[in-house]
Amino acid sequence: MLRLLLLLFSVVTLAGSVIITQKQQVSIAQCPITYYTEKYTNVYTDVSNGRLMICFKGFYNPGKSNDCIQGPVIDKNQITFNIYQDNSLSSTIRQKLKLLTNDLKCYSYFSFLSEGRTTALKLYQFGTQTALGLQYSDYQQPGTGSTDYPRYAYTLVNNEQVHSVVASKAAVENYGDITGCRLNGFGMARNTVKSFPETCTTGSCSSAAVVTSTTCGDREYCDGKGSCKQRGLCTVTGPTVIDFRGQMNSVSDRCEYTLLQDQSTGFTLKANFLERRRRDVSFVDSVTLDFSQGADIQLLQGHRVLVGGSPVTLSGSVQTFNGVGLSKDQTGVTANISLGGASFSLFFDGTTAQIFIDVLAGHSYKGLCENSSSFSSSKLSSDSSCQQQYQEKVDNTVNCTAVTQQCNILKSSPFSSCNAVVDPQPYIAACTETLCKYPAVDGLRCQFLGAYAKACQKRQVNIQNWETAAQCSSSTVMCPGRTCSDHEFCGQIDNSTATGCRCKAIFAAPYINSSSFGAPTVCQHNSASLTLVGCLLEQRGIDYSLLTLLDKTCKGQVDETTHLMTFNFTSDNCGTIVTTKKGQVIFTNAVTLKDKITRKDQAYIEFSCLYKKPEVNHVAFRIQDSPVVQTVVSGDWNHTVTMKAFADSMRTQMLDRSYQVQLNQKIWVELKSSGLDENLISTVTDSCWATNQPSSDSSQKYFLIKNGCANIDDQTVQVERNGDGTLNYFSFNMFKFTDESRDLYLHCKLQLCLKQEGNCIPVCSAQGKRRRRSAKYRQRDAAFLSMGWST
Ligand SMILES: *[C@@H]1O[C@H](CO)[C@@H](O)[C@H](O)[C@H]1NC(C)=O
Ligand SMILES: *[C@@H]1O[C@H](CO)[C@@H](O)[C@H](O)[C@H]1NC(C)=O
Ligand SMILES: *[C@@H]1O[C@H](CO)[C@@H](O)[C@H](O)[C@H]1NC(C)=O
Ligand SMILES: *[C@@H]1O[C@H](CO)[C@@H](O)[C@H](O)[C@H]1NC(C)=O
Ligand SMILES: *[C@@H]1O[C@H](CO)[C@@H](O)[C@H](O)[C@H]1NC(C)=O
Ligand SMILES: *[C@@H]1O[C@H](CO)[C@@H](O)[C@H](O)[C@H]1NC(C)=O
Ligand SMILES: *[C@@H]1O[C@H](CO)[C@@H](O)[C@H](O)[C@H]1NC(C)=O
Repeated sequence: MLRLLLLLFSVVTLAGSVIITQKQQVSIAQCPITYYTEKYTNVYTDVSNGRLMICFKGFYNPGKSNDCIQGPVIDKNQITFNIYQDNSLSSTIRQKLKLLTNDLKCYSYFSFLSEGRTTALKLYQFGTQTALGLQYSDYQQPGTGSTDYPRYAYTLVNNEQVHSVVASKAAVENYGDITGCRLNGFGMARNTVKSFPETCTTGSCSSAAVVTSTTCGDREYCDGKGSCKQRGLCTVTGPTVIDFRGQMNSVSDRCEYTLLQDQSTGFTLKANFLERRRRDVSFVDSVTLDFSQGADIQLLQGHRVLVGGSPVTLSGSVQTFNGVGLSKDQTGVTANISLGGASFSLFFDGTTAQIFIDVLAGHSYKGLCENSSSFSSSKLSSDSSCQQQYQEKVDNTVNCTAVTQQCNILKSSPFSSCNAVVDPQPYIAACTETLCKYPAVDGLRCQFLGAYAKACQKRQVNIQNWETAAQCSSSTVMCPGRTCSDHEFCGQIDNSTATGCRCKAIFAAPYINSSSFGAPTVCQHNSASLTLVGCLLEQRGIDYSLLTLLDKTCKGQVDETTHLMTFNFTSDNCGTIVTTKKGQVIFTNAVTLKDKITRKDQAYIEFSCLYKKPEVNHVAFRIQDSPVVQTVVSGDWNHTVTMKAFADSMRTQMLDRSYQVQLNQKIWVELKSSGLDENLISTVTDSCWATNQPSSDSSQKYFLIKNGCANIDDQTVQVERNGDGTLNYFSFNMFKFTDESRDLYLHCKLQLCLKQEGNCIPVCSAQGKRRRRSAKYRQRDAAFLSMGWST
């Protein structure tokens, strides 16, 4: 007590000692303080839960926001209050509280009994800076049983505790710097940092009591748990990419690109671009989810999905593959992925890919979705063929003015309801840039508008009835039940709303250049095969399932994957027409539209195969015996028939064993009878045929003469004299059987004809048939002669 009194007498009293009993408003206007940036000139004393409360905005009320100092327990509701003007303690306090830079000006003094000890709570004003002091006396009031234990004082800002000052040893005063700062209604001590997880705000109060705070950035939001996150939307429609920043750029080649790469997890989202109707405009064709571990997931055309290369069947309910939630509805396929605290959602419908991300702020990705102009660093394809650029003619049907108007609908109702949330400009640019070059077919215009509507939906703005307003029927199903092949895409056929598999432009170019529907006919031996390209037929409106060869029962075979259609035929089936011309055999057939042969311009594809007769000149034949002489005795007739072969038409050079006949060399065969009365009888060469066996009945027979007439299929056979007397001869070109046999046997059947019964000379039609039997042959008098040749 002595020490305390000494202290009291050494200062100048400003107010004169006042006794406060419990609840009282007291002015400190003579020594106002700055309490965590707020300047106060009044205090309101009170007791709560037995503790002294000194508040600044009014009396203490636990339900009401206030700034207070909660002192220690107070014994009697009696406080001695005074204000002193004193700077003697300046250096003492500043030694403890180094941040105080001003000099002590004055202080308010509150003295009371706390568990038997005289306790003082002091508010020191250092100009704009403030210190709180707490001290209790070492004098033990008799009979109170007071003990020497720490007394606490707490500063509260908006009822939240900021500082505590503890007087832990009697007579030793302790101080707290309560100059501080305020942030979001909270008090802060100088040189401290405070975080607010609900708003992701972090504030720091500097030594000069200046508060600075950081919170989530512009395009970020606070997740309420202290993390700033960012949502991002990347839209790829046709060739255009609108990145997370809203920058639009177009892919100009047909390569594969990284859309998004997360280097921390190794997850990469890739997109492959390919052409459709024009070689100079590419479209996003497929999207691949590539994980550092586990199978890739590919989203393909036609809402098809491959997991690790194998197709999977999806439905409206989510199925999980490799941690990816996949589902499908009639509009497209959705994939949801959660990786390393980030979530990705991908939608792909075959023409538009939209990627939504919800990730920790500041995490950056690589790829076109992060920066749509980073083409060179995002390109994945290493082969250069995908980079080849094509020059195409400008499409005159495109009216860029009209297209621009159509794309600008994104700025008017009903789309305008979303304009403040999603900037329509990059979507308009993507729509205009593409459709000024590429025809607005295949629902492409609506794809651009739909991409905007979907982006809005992701931002919780549903654009009502945009399909109706923009004349986009959402019910059009592209290529129902069809899976277009790699060289095809699903598109509109002609001007109708019907869709089908059309050829991609680069694939189709050579066929269109040569005005063909497929590859050239492949001719082999006596068969041929023709392959037509399904998409070339389909985009001309031809239903290729109805195509047949000339024989309508001969249909083509369609490969289910490639849609290539193959027709096979031989010389003697499917209505093939065989003609020969100058040593060439020609097979001709045609593909026609079944039952609609009148539409020749629509589908009448004629094709043929040409063959040269083989000339194998090194094969030489030698006759085995010549001439062949046979005596025929039959009834009244007794005659001798001689068969001779000659190398010349005058039949002067008879072939004997020394003569080598070359393959395809023309030879003349003479059949001459002697011992007959020429006035009565003629001999008729009924038939001549070749075999590879000595026997004339051998199964393989090749006729040169049949029914007295030359085989018209063999244009080399010429019957030069027959039935006009007893000397007959014919010519043919020497041939060889295609099998391995080295021998050739020529057999002729000769008949006798009675001249008195009519004309004995066979009359042959162009078809090689004898028109009528002019005279009776005497079958029983037939003579058979054979001549052997060997190589
Ligand atoms: C994907 O995630 C989004 C939100 O992130 C949710 O609205 C949607 O239903 C999910 N879809 C699937 C297929 O999991
Ligand atoms: C995007 O990529 C391009 C090309 O690499 C580069 O010039 C540009 O600075 C990048 N933009 C941003 C915002 O990083
Ligand atoms: C193009 O479209 C605009 C607006 O629809 C129209 O005024 C103009 O006549 C069109 N031009 C041609 C060449 O069709
Ligand atoms: C498609 O429409 C255009 C213009 O309307 C017309 O010139 C063309 O002949 C039509 N094509 C077909 C296959 O109907
Ligand atoms: C089209 O065919 C012509 C002649 O066969 C050829 O010179 C030209 O390069 C071809 N064009 C294309 C685009 O294939
Ligand atoms: C058609 O001919 C091709 C080529 O000769 C052959 O590969 C194919 O098997 C044949 N198809 C049929 C149905 O005969
Ligand atoms: C047939 O003629 C030959 C010789 O020219 C003769 O040897 C033979 O006896 C004759 N036969 C008959 C039945 O006249």
